[in-house]
Amino acid sequence: MSARILVFGGSFDPPHKGHQELLKAAKEQIHPARTMVIPAYHSPWKKDSSASPEERFQMAKLSFPEAEISRLEMRARRRVYTIEVLRRLKKENPGSEIHFVIGSDLVARFDEWKSPLELRKLARWWTALRPPKNGKIPSFFNLVSRAMPEISSTDLRADLLMGENVSGKMDPRVLEWIKQRGLYGVSILPRLKKILKPERLFHSISVARLSRRLSCVWEVDSFEAALAGLLHDAGRSVPISEMKPYCQKRRLRVPLFRKVFAYQPILLHAYISEDISRRMFGIKNSDVLKAIRHHTLGNSAMGKLERLIYVCDTCSEDRNYSEAAELRELAARNPQEAFLECLNGKIRHALSLRGWIHPLPIQIWNSLIL
Ligand SMILES: [Fe+2]
Ligand SMILES: [Fe+2]
Repeated sequence: MSARILVFGGSFDPPHKGHQELLKAAKEQIHPARTMVIPAYHSPWKKDSSASPEERFQMAKLSFPEAEISRLEMRARRRVYTIEVLRRLKKENPGSEIHFVIGSDLVARFDEWKSPLELRKLARWWTALRPPKNGKIPSFFNLVSRAMPEISSTDLRADLLMGENVSGKMDPRVLEWIKQRGLYGVSILPRLKKILKPERLFHSISVARLSRRLSCVWEVDSFEAALAGLLHDAGRSVPISEMKPYCQKRRLRVPLFRKVFAYQPILLHAYISEDISRRMFGIKNSDVLKAIRHHTLGNSAMGKLERLIYVCDTCSEDRNYSEAAELRELAARNPQEAFLECLNGKIRHALSLRGWIHPLPIQIWNSLIL
């Protein structure tokens, strides 16, 4: 019998107990002579990996202490296709039998991988038995016979950001490592606690929870939704009287700045929130920064995440005006209608105050209904 090599590939961003269980179960069934875990340099399917390749490599070392953690993909310092990895492994290990294990989230798109037919020839493929919501598993895949815990790295990143208890989902050594380095935004909430008043912090958490919960229906990344929700009011840490000088000093571009300052200076906080998120919290994700910047006035051509935060800010659980619950319910099933309703409500509210109205929301309304 030729020597079996078990290869476990993935982003491991971060690795969790589902990964550990999958590898353990696969080993028990495959009986490999060698076990390799290969963290991707940057998975072709991931838009924005939150941890660096080296950080994911170190976390994989902690998660899979008995496996050989390979820098095969990372060393290339570019996007590496699995077919390249397999060809190389075959060349370096002639006569060996390669058993490739991947998480079931990657299986559904296997046909979109580069050279799927050759991939099938070069290795035997394994994945976890998962409920059908993840799509159909192609028949050539072998299934590990044990049911795996349902944990996703994306959800785990949002859990870590929101300060949830994740001890049942990941190895304590990895969790400690993440906390020490402040990965996945674990230090954001404790730092926000220091700069925001308790009621503002409560509101920010409420917006983050709602936007995370709605992220699936709104088709946005749950981590990004929670991150933008959490930071959207960071600018409220600046007293209103200091908002104008702050904006001037930082040269923040606020549409109709003079009028905003004269008639509605509180609106400046959204632009300050973006600046604080960028400078104090090190946020670089442009979608998240835009969602924070535009959560009060909006903007023409708002993306999904911007609209989600705009809506969640007005109807989070802590909002107790009469229509908030209705808007929440609408947002959970119809993003487009919820955004229109939210915009409509904001314009109605502004009119009821009989004061100056910023033209931007009116322009957005017109662009949407014409
Ligand atoms: Fe706000
Ligand atoms: Fe808010």
